[in-house]
Amino acid sequence: MIVSTRSFILFALSDSKSLISALQSETDLAFTQTHGQHSMVKIAMLGAGLIGEFYAQSLLGHRSRDQICSVYSRSIERAQAYAERWNVPRATTSLTKAIHDTDSELVVVAVPNHMHEEAVLESARAGKGVLCTKPLGRNASEARRMLEAVERAGVFHGYLEDLVYTPKTLKALDTVSSGSLGNILWVRSRETHPGPHSAWFWDKATAGGGAIVDMGCHCIEIARSFIGKEIRPVEVVCWGATQVHPIDSEDHAIGLVRYENGAIGQFEVSWSFRGGMDLRDEISGTEGTIWLNHWLRTGFEVFSSVGSAKYVSEKSESSSGWLFPVGDEASALGYTEMFQDMLDAYENHSAPRESFYDGYVVNAIIDAAYRSMESKRWEAITIDDWRGKTQAAVRDLEKAQGHSEMHDDAHVVIKREVLPDGTRRLILKNIITEATSSVIER
Ligand SMILES: NC(=O)c1ccc[n+]([C@@H]2O[C@H](COP(=O)([O-])OP(=O)(O)OC[C@H]3O[C@@H](n4cnc5c(N)ncnc54)[C@H](O)[C@@H]3O)[C@@H](O)[C@H]2O)c1
Repeated sequence: MIVSTRSFILFALSDSKSLISALQSETDLAFTQTHGQHSMVKIAMLGAGLIGEFYAQSLLGHRSRDQICSVYSRSIERAQAYAERWNVPRATTSLTKAIHDTDSELVVVAVPNHMHEEAVLESARAGKGVLCTKPLGRNASEARRMLEAVERAGVFHGYLEDLVYTPKTLKALDTVSSGSLGNILWVRSRETHPGPHSAWFWDKATAGGGAIVDMGCHCIEIARSFIGKEIRPVEVVCWGATQVHPIDSEDHAIGLVRYENGAIGQFEVSWSFRGGMDLRDEISGTEGTIWLNHWLRTGFEVFSSVGSAKYVSEKSESSSGWLFPVGDEASALGYTEMFQDMLDAYENHSAPRESFYDGYVVNAIIDAAYRSMESKRWEAITIDDWRGKTQAAVRDLEKAQGHSEMHDDAHVVIKREVLPDGTRRLILKNIITEATSSVIER
């Protein structure tokens, strides 16, 4: 960037006075690029697969000021093709070489799950900031070691959980934090599709599990974000099974995560769902409800009898008939806002919305879900290093929130109902006898 600006300026100007002032603007530009509002973050991208592509689209697709300086992939052809597509100066098949690339200051880990720990530990050793895709680890022990490594090295870290950054989710989180929904009681989050695109996902050893570790991690963090990250998740009950595919991992699972304040996070994940990718969330509070639909039927529907040979949307199963394309996938999936937050936080020396600690808590919940799938019982969540509210503080919070409306000295209001004939019924409970009754409200 600086070099090309300089060449252009030298070419365009002939007298020395203009040259001095041009060099001055170049110095100003360089300063702004590294320190000011418009600074450039230089990135090493580990992984040139599906997610590496989405990440490049978000980082570089919108007249971005950031740069990917080196890219790693297992095959040099793939790394080089990526480098060409995204104007990356160096392509390599060596993970270590990419991490130690002297130009790059921040490493983005976008390789299969079994390589996250190695990539993060090496980045921390190199003293580089590191952003890691989901799931942070294959299990909580791996995630904990990664968290400890970045904290010990004192390097910047961010957990790339894109689905808490979709424009709809950010607005919904804002609505919840302003109190519009009252206290959050139940968050249901669903991610289902016909199964992942690469072989390694289907191998329990490399992925760390099936649909729960792959997609439950999104649903769990979505629910946690709405319920409140400061509230401790306590226990999980989970059903999971291999319903369709010839694999060792679960291809379908449903789980409930109970939080210390009584709220429930529900995750529903499947690799055997037909019809594309279904991403939906429901948030229920004492004063309101939010329903979010992120992918199928989001208000953009196309019918074509002849069909299209072109890509429709991620995990779309059909190319004719009714189609559900997505306008800007990187934004709809949260990648754009996610990198905005991560890189802003990196530059401002602040914490991003999602850190390795969040990734670790998610892994701890997933570990308990796998235990429950085996035992068929509620299983306690082990978080060695809880940094949120203590139990007493949560109880205080519940007490402060738990006020019931009295009808008279003896009766508390359970519910108000407008009946089909227009009369208003009050359902009451006697606070001494606990008997329920009803009166017509005048
Ligand atoms: N929504 C999301 O945030 C999201 C979506 C998809 C994937 N991911 C995560 O991103 C990571 C990579 O997933 P992907 O979908 O890009 O995978 P992919 O198979 O499309 O690409 C994998 C990349 O890693 C390299 N690689 C190195 N060793 C490998 C090995 N042993 N097997 C396969 N590839 C190897 C490949 O060369 C390639 O560059 C995973 O951790 C996955 O969970 C996140």
